[in-house]
Amino acid sequence: MPISWSDDWSVNVKEIDAQHQTFLKILASIAELLYRPERAEELDDLMRQLESYMLYHFATEERYFDEFDYELAEEHKAEHRDLAAQVLKYKTRYKSEGDSILPEVIDFLEDWLVDHLATQDKKYTRCFNEHGLF
Ligand SMILES: [Fe+2]
Repeated sequence: MPISWSDDWSVNVKEIDAQHQTFLKILASIAELLYRPERAEELDDLMRQLESYMLYHFATEERYFDEFDYELAEEHKAEHRDLAAQVLKYKTRYKSEGDSILPEVIDFLEDWLVDHLATQDKKYTRCFNEHGLF
């Protein structure tokens, strides 16, 4: 069941909130397509979009970590790296097993995102805001 954005997850930085919302939207689009026929090409596209958007989003956060000398940068970057590695594994499985793994991928990513938003991402709000980023 796709989840939708909740203001509870706001990190109080517009650019980042918008990226998190976009990420959730991509996940929701994939979930929706699963129940439609003739979806293969679109799904491929969305899976590529999901991966590149994830990397783009991580790069955005990490650029601010470096710029603001954020004290928890290393543990946060480690979580990003772990997820990127997991997504790579799913990509390989997607190629060999096809659509059947997608419900698992979506569940995993939604759980990861919600947990990451509520724990790691919330921690940088103060640092980012103190540097004038809202
Ligand atoms: Fe993050």
